[in-house]
Amino acid sequence: MNILDIGYHLLRPALFRLDAEQAHTLITGSMDRLVALPLASLLLPQPVADPRLHTSVADITFANPVGLAAGFDKDGRHVAALAALGFGFLELGTVTPQPQPGNPQPRLFRLPADKALVNRMGFNNAGAFALAERLHTLKRPLPLGVNLGKNKATPNADAASDYVRGVTILGPYADYLVVNISSPNTPGLRDLSRREPLTELLLAVQDARRRLSADLGRPAPPLFVKLSPDEDSAGLDAALGAALDAKVDGLIATNTTVSRGDLRAPQQQETGGLSGAPLQERSQAVLRHLYRATNGTLPLIGVGGISDGDSAYARICAGASLVQLYTALIYGGPTLIAQINRRLLALLQRDGHASIASAVGSHAAIGRAL
Ligand SMILES: Cc1cc2nc3c(=O)[nH]c(=O)nc-3n(C[C@H](O)[C@H](O)[C@H](O)COP(=O)(O)O)c2cc1C
Repeated sequence: MNILDIGYHLLRPALFRLDAEQAHTLITGSMDRLVALPLASLLLPQPVADPRLHTSVADITFANPVGLAAGFDKDGRHVAALAALGFGFLELGTVTPQPQPGNPQPRLFRLPADKALVNRMGFNNAGAFALAERLHTLKRPLPLGVNLGKNKATPNADAASDYVRGVTILGPYADYLVVNISSPNTPGLRDLSRREPLTELLLAVQDARRRLSADLGRPAPPLFVKLSPDEDSAGLDAALGAALDAKVDGLIATNTTVSRGDLRAPQQQETGGLSGAPLQERSQAVLRHLYRATNGTLPLIGVGGISDGDSAYARICAGASLVQLYTALIYGGPTLIAQINRRLLALLQRDGHASIASAVGSHAAIGRAL
């Protein structure tokens, strides 16, 4: 345990008495101030730098495979502080073309008994131009993905133009782009994951990437699509078919779930997407389904309920080239990412893998898919 970790665990009971969104604002603000201190490195978790953790996906090089999932830093305000926690990459967003306030507060709820969260944030964000402006001047210590959405007021029939605007405005500054059609908190958004609308949407986005590449004089950032855990195998295969037709570079599985299952905390009754431990099995099954359906030919990013080195490694062995997390950070605190990377190294060594890439999909044939 380092001093920051001790501080977090001492403060956690008080933080957990605050509204979850207020606590988030307080913690991210404190982290920003901390990393700006001259001797901050004495307080921060020891970085885990090891060539066996290096990995390359869609021509991007990552110092380690553990990333921050979308939604934690929608507007890219905390990049330095999050990089200091040892992440291999950060996914910013979801951002929409126009700024929008999201749903009324409270809209984020902790379920401590279930190590879970329910959120109905509704893409609160400062808009694509504000993020582009910030990224334009930002120091980039690690790969930054940008997750794109549509404004609530944009009807699905016009959704493609919102995503195209996201590509045009943010493509110049992103290491990768994500089409998010899987948030449960924008009414009707998930309808876009059906085969026809998704094909149409992705083809428009691919056109925008081609135009961007011509303008920039270099390849556009790779494109990933983020999927929902609430599709059955037919729904998932339809989305996969659209993604393959449009030749996307990878898939992110999964977003939050609207199902509840067997939970203990009373906050489960809140409307919104459930994340954290109760999502782990479903997200892993979806990932395994996608890996098997594509014979491991399409890069996959695994997210949903990953909370430690063992669950990160299990997702990698099921077929994820990279993993992401959000909820576990709230329960695990600031040294979690370093702990996960240290455990990943031990597990690679135990199983005789010389690299992350060698472990990817090594257990894909074993275990439950959909
Ligand atoms: C408060 C909150 C806000 C989120 N906002 C977004 C978002 O804007 N876009 C998105 O694609 N996913 C969003 N997510 C989903 C996460 O990126 C992730 O897919 C999901 O939480 C499962 O991972 P976890 O169990 O590690 O939290 C959000 C999750 C939470 C908890």
